[in-house]
Amino acid sequence: MTGELSPIDKAKFVAAKRAAEFVEDGMRVGLGTGSTAAWLVRCLGEMVREDGLKIRGVPTSTRTADLARDVGIEVISLDEAKWLDLTIDGADEFDSNLSLIKGGGGALLQEKIVATASDQMIVIADAAKEVEHLGSFPLPVEVIPFGWQTTQALIEETMVSMDVMGRQTSLRMNGDRAFVTDEGNHILDLHLGRIGNPRQMAMVLNQIPGVVENGLFIDICDQVVIGYGDGRVEVR
Ligand code: 5RP
Repeated sequence: MTGELSPIDKAKFVAAKRAAEFVEDGMRVGLGTGSTAAWLVRCLGEMVREDGLKIRGVPTSTRTADLARDVGIEVISLDEAKWLDLTIDGADEFDSNLSLIKGGGGALLQEKIVATASDQMIVIADAAKEVEHLGSFPLPVEVIPFGWQTTQALIEETMVSMDVMGRQTSLRMNGDRAFVTDEGNHILDLHLGRIGNPRQMAMVLNQIPGVVENGLFIDICDQVVIGYGDGRVEVR
């Protein structure tokens, strides 16, 4: 499954493989999105096919759903599952409180819904994702297409009163078109530099008309599994 991996892919793979050990027979599992989460899905697929592991997976994107089906995992919707035992997903940044920035892959809305509907959320990440302060990675905010430029202006205006270094925002593109999420929305990436108060930021952003959800995950993640390029893994 792995062949010759670069150090970064090895770090992602070993984190995913270790996190897969938390998955038990009969569990309803939230399946994250992104390159690290894809390793997790492949590892779980192998466990299903070769060890007879019986799980039902709730994917957080169409990409993950396609991969999960390909590797033999039974896929169900969140409404069918109703509640999940465990969600395992990647992150763009995590801090010492296990607060996260997510949404680099554009799936933050489904990811947050699924993680929140889980008894437990485990983040899998390479060591480079650990930060002292969130915000170097541009914060993704999902907005509805209607009047998105007005929403953008409102966000920029709001940032003036927040404890952040930068205020620039950009519409995420896919080639020469605006990126469209699985829910038909757009993503604004907020170049904040450093987020002084992530909890307040998450609440303030979601009050702005046109904002559907933001990529700050506060008090959602329970554990992080960190992978290193030399194959070491740390669970926190
Ligand atoms: C997708 C996400 C991903 O989990 C995040 O972008 C990390 O991705 P990767 O594992 O490829 O580094 O939030 O919306």
